[in-house]
Amino acid sequence: MHVEQFRYSADNLAYLVWNETGAIAVDGGAVEEIRAFVAERNLPLLYVTNTHRHYDHTLGNDALLAATRARFVNPDSLPEGSGIELGEEVLRVHRTPGHTEDSVCFQAGSTLLTGDTLFNGTVGNCFSGDLLGFLGSIRRLMALPGETMILAGHDYVRDAMLFARKLEPSNLPALEAYWRTYDPVFVCSSLREERSMNPYLRFNDPGIVAVLRERGLPRATEEERWLSLMSIE
Ligand SMILES: [Fe+2]
Repeated sequence: MHVEQFRYSADNLAYLVWNETGAIAVDGGAVEEIRAFVAERNLPLLYVTNTHRHYDHTLGNDALLAATRARFVNPDSLPEGSGIELGEEVLRVHRTPGHTEDSVCFQAGSTLLTGDTLFNGTVGNCFSGDLLGFLGSIRRLMALPGETMILAGHDYVRDAMLFARKLEPSNLPALEAYWRTYDPVFVCSSLREERSMNPYLRFNDPGIVAVLRERGLPRATEEERWLSLMSIE
C-alpha cells in the first residue's frame, strides 16, 4: 500500500491509501487534489473514512462521496484489530481513545495515520476528558516498531518544537536533529524520532522527570508523570 499526504485548510493533512486495486481517503479534506490523484491513475476511490469526527477532518466526506462511487466507512464500526480491505491488503485499525472517544489510528504496513492522537512532536488535546485512556492509547502506539512512520492529522511541527525546546532545553540536540528533517511538503517522523524528542512520549525519560521535579509536579508513577505533562500549559 502507498500513502499520499495532501495539505488543506491552514494546517490539516489528508491522506490517500492506495494500491493497484483502489484507494481509501482518510480525512480527505483536500477534495480536488484527491480527485485529481485518483483520476490521473485511473484508480477507483473505494472508501472514505476518518480518524475521528471533528469537522476539520470530515469536511471533505460529502464531496468525495458525491463525486465518486466510494462508500463511507464509519470508524465506529471498526473494532480493534479489524481493518478496511484493499484487495489482498488491509488498512488496520487501532482504537486510540483520548483526543476524542471515537479516535482511531490507521496502519498501512509500517505507516501509521494518527489523526489528532499523536502529532509529530506533540499529542492532541484530551477533549474526551479520559486522560488515562489517552495514556493507554499512546502506550500502545509506542509499542510499535521504531521505524513506524507517523503521519498526523495536522502539521503542528513548528509550534511543537518551540514548546518542547522551552519545556526541556536539555533535549535540544534531539529536537534540532528532527527539525532539520522537517519538510512542509511531506510532514512525517519515525516513532523512533518521536521517542527521542516528543515530550509527551518521554514520560519515563530522566530529562522529563527532571523537568517535572523542577516544576514541583507529581512524578512518582508513569500515570502521574503523564498527567503532570498534560497539565503544563
Ligand atoms: Fe480533532
